[in-house]
Amino acid sequence: MGPFITFEGGEGCGKSTQSRLLLKKLEQQNIPVVLTHEPGGTSLGTEIRKLLKRKRGSSIAPQAELFLFAASRVQLVAELIRPALEETKVVICDRFTDSTLVYQGYGRGLDLTTVETVNNMATGNLKPDLTILLDMSPEQGLARKQSLKDRFELEDLSFHHRVREGYLKMAAAEPDCWLLIDASLPEEKIAEIIWDRVSTLLLPSL
Ligand code: TMP
Repeated sequence: MGPFITFEGGEGCGKSTQSRLLLKKLEQQNIPVVLTHEPGGTSLGTEIRKLLKRKRGSSIAPQAELFLFAASRVQLVAELIRPALEETKVVICDRFTDSTLVYQGYGRGLDLTTVETVNNMATGNLKPDLTILLDMSPEQGLARKQSLKDRFELEDLSFHHRVREGYLKMAAAEPDCWLLIDASLPEEKIAEIIWDRVSTLLLPSL
């Protein structure tokens, strides 16, 4: 199985930029790698993403939201993540199960054990080898968002503070599996810190 690396963080933290930079770096080293994201990454996931992010239309109950993220994840793990890992590719995923724990658990207030159970069902207990957390205050992150805001970005600041608190708690509980980075550092510095850690993880193949 190839190493599985996830990126996590609140709104506007720069995950997508850093996951693309890591993809490029691995490609330059001729390491087989796949980059994907959640929700989405499959045609079913892309449809679910539209439902989850649009701000108009019918409201979505927190439990329904939990299962929509889970459905997108089941498909992504089955269709892309597991097959790629089995081919010993590095898989990078922009958001994964920890997003559900912090957004639906800490943010929406769903029971954390229930969220964890649903996550495990959706992934067949697949866990990342490394989770990179780009940490930033919600005020700073949301201010970076230029485009029209989606359903999550429109949540009040206290929601985003709970999300951040959840992330920091999880990173502190398992420091060996999490890389916590100050997302307000310059982009190149962040990429350097990430490469230092990822290259150690991949040492035998470099
Ligand atoms: P993003 O891809 O632009 O970060 O948007 C995804 C949004 O969905 C983001 O606000 C976080 C949210 N989200 C959850 O609430 N739970 C989840 O399990 C995932 C993967 C994302």
